[in-house]
Amino acid sequence: MEKGVFVTGSDTEVGKTVIAGAIAAAMRAHGLDVGVMKPVASGAKEINGKLVSEDAVYLKKIIDSSDDDDLVNPICLKLPIAPTIAASIAGVPIDVDKIWKAYEELTNRHDFVVVEGVGGLMVPINDTLFVADLVCKMDLPLVIVCKDYLGTINHTLLTLEYAKSRNIRIKGIVINMLKNGDDFVREIEKYSSAPILGTIPFKENVSVENCAYGDIVEHFRREINISKIMRK
Ligand SMILES: Nc1ncnc2c1ncn2[C@@H]1O[C@H](COP(=O)(O)OP(=O)(O)OP(=O)(O)O)[C@@H](O)[C@H]1O
Ligand SMILES: [Mg+2]
Repeated sequence: MEKGVFVTGSDTEVGKTVIAGAIAAAMRAHGLDVGVMKPVASGAKEINGKLVSEDAVYLKKIIDSSDDDDLVNPICLKLPIAPTIAASIAGVPIDVDKIWKAYEELTNRHDFVVVEGVGGLMVPINDTLFVADLVCKMDLPLVIVCKDYLGTINHTLLTLEYAKSRNIRIKGIVINMLKNGDDFVREIEKYSSAPILGTIPFKENVSVENCAYGDIVEHFRREINISKIMRK
């Protein structure tokens, strides 16, 4: 069995949190002890003097995680901009050791850890590391989330090519917020070197901001064969 999965996106705001949450909840429903992680978050809210990542809150809540916030989200930055720029403005360098230690602890605690990336694979984490380097160091396979919008085919194929160039294993692609039906799916399928794991439509009752899941987990479990993600 895999020890986890890294959920990346063709872009920011494509549904990484929603799909990472659905994977984590589906694994839990399968009987696994699951952990979640958002190693680096930007655009955090300040609550009682503490920075809190909306993504980490959503991911924790969907699996009833009792792991500490610092473990689930070791790097939390206030400004909703690229992490290196947010860290530079905050005057606090990103401490990658905190990420490795938190990841190690979570993998020791849980059967399976679902990690949500930040933006896409080539988002810089510091002067020498990109998100793809986190994936390599964590030694996790990828699920690539893309959203049905103009530009996605390009972004998705570029993400796949870059992952392949880094020898990252790819479980497949989840097409989120599908609106145009089969043509879009067929086009991605035609040019993609990785399988499409499934599609998820836009759902009125799903919202990361409001921690609302609607029936996303049930839908995900019906649509996507999680054993393909779970098995080595
Ligand atoms: N299938 C869906 N149906 C309805 N709304 C969705 C769906 N998927 C995502 N959303 C909404 O779209 C927005 C972006 O989704 P999400 O936060 O999961 O993206 P992300 O890739 O994790 O973004 P970020 O790069 O900021 O982490 C959120 O407001 C979320 O509630
Ligand atoms: Mg997110």
